[in-house]
Amino acid sequence: MKRAIIWAGVVAAAVAGGCATMADREAYDAKATATIERDFHARGIATMDRLKQDELQATCTKYRDHPPADVLRRLEAQQMATMKLPADGKLMGDWKSGQKIAESGRGMTWNDKPGVPSGGSCYNCHQLAPQQTSFGSVGPSLRQFGKLRGYTPEMQKYAYQRIYNSKAFAACSTMPRFGASGTLTEAQIKDLVAYLMDPESPVNK
Ligand code: HEC
Repeated sequence: MKRAIIWAGVVAAAVAGGCATMADREAYDAKATATIERDFHARGIATMDRLKQDELQATCTKYRDHPPADVLRRLEAQQMATMKLPADGKLMGDWKSGQKIAESGRGMTWNDKPGVPSGGSCYNCHQLAPQQTSFGSVGPSLRQFGKLRGYTPEMQKYAYQRIYNSKAFAACSTMPRFGASGTLTEAQIKDLVAYLMDPESPVNK
C-alpha cells in the first residue's frame, strides 16, 4: 500500500513537471538550491563555493541542458577561447601513469588533503581497457580510441582539449572540465592522452 502511495506521488510529480511553466521551474530551482544550501556543510577542501554555478552551468540549468542552438554555440565558443595547450607543444606523456590517473576516483572530496594530486575517474563514465571489470556508461566507450580514430597529431590535440575542457565541444556535457577547473595538471592530462593515443596502451589493444 505504502509503495502504491509513493508511486502515485512520483507520477503526480512527473505530470506536474511535464506541465511546469518557466516560473514554476525557477521556483523549483530556488527550492532545490535552498535545500542544498541548508544541508551541505563545508568540510576540508569541499567548501560552499562548490554550490555557485558559473555562467555556463547556470545557462545549462536554465535550459535543462538543451539550450537553443545559438546559445549552445556561444557557450562552446566561450569555453574554447579559454583553452590552454601545453607550452612545450608535447601532448603525450606516459600511458602507464595515465592508466593510474584514469582508474583513480580520488580527489576533490572533503577527506582529500590539499595538494595531493586528484585522479580522473574516467572509468566512472567510460569503458577504456579490456581488463576493466566494471565501468560507467554515461560517456561513450573509448575502447581502441587511438586505433579507431587514427594516431594523428590532430587526434592527440582533440583528446587533450576534450580532457582539458569537454564543454568547448558539448557545452552542457556531464564530463568535468578537468584542466580548466584545475582538477588535473598539464602533466596528468598528457599522461591521459598517451593512455588514449599510445599504440602500446591497453586502450588500443
Ligand atoms: C561524469 C562523466 C564523465 C567523466 C568522469 C569523464 N567523461 Fe569523458 N565524456 C563524457 C561524456 C558524456 C562524453 C560524450 C560527449 C559529451 O557530452 O561531452 C565524453 C566524451 C569524452 C571524449 C570524446 C569521445 C569522442 O568520441 O570523441 C573523450 C576523449 C573523453 N570523454 C575522455 C575522458 C577522460 C580521459 C576522462 C577522465 C579524465 C573522462 N573522459 C571522464 C563523460 C565523462
